[in-house]
Amino acid sequence: MPRALILNGPNLNRLGQREPGVYGRVTLAEIEALVRDHAARHDVDIETLQSNHEGALIDAIHRAADTADGIVLNAGAYTHTSVALHDAIASVAVPVVEVHLSNIHAREAFRHRSFIAPVALGQIAGFGPQGYLLALDALRAHWAASAT
Ligand code: DQA
Repeated sequence: MPRALILNGPNLNRLGQREPGVYGRVTLAEIEALVRDHAARHDVDIETLQSNHEGALIDAIHRAADTADGIVLNAGAYTHTSVALHDAIASVAVPVVEVHLSNIHAREAFRHRSFIAPVALGQIAGFGPQGYLLALDALRAHWAASAT
C-alpha cells in the first residue's frame, strides 16, 4: 500500500479559531480525519504530523525519504521564507504536493512567492480543506503514472 505523509507547518494547529474569514472554521483534526477517510477509501496508508518548528519539518521530510512514497505539505508561512525547507525537499526523492487552504496568489504580495513550488510536483491553493484531498489524488495519479 502506498504511504503518504500529511505534513502541516506553523500555526495550522490553530485552524478553526485562526482568522476564520480566511481559513474557515474547520480544525486541523477535522481535516486530518477527512484525509484519513479519503486515503482509506483509496488504499493509501497515511501518517499525519504538524509542527510549528522549521527543524522538525525538515527532520520529517528527511525521515519520509525512507518511510513515505509521497508528501502533502502545507508549510504555512515557511512556504514564503524557508530556503532550508526547499533544500530538504530537494535532498529527498519523495514527491511533494504543496497545499494551501487559501489562494496565496490572491493575497498579500509576500505570499505570492513559494520556496516550495520549484521543488514540488505541483501546488494546490484556494480550495480550503478539499485541497488536501486533491493533493492526495495528485499523488495517486503520479504513483499510477510512475508505475507504468
Ligand atoms: C497557508 C497560507 C500561508 O501564507 C500562511 O502563512 C499560512 C497558511 C494556507 O494554507 O493558506 O499559515 O499556507
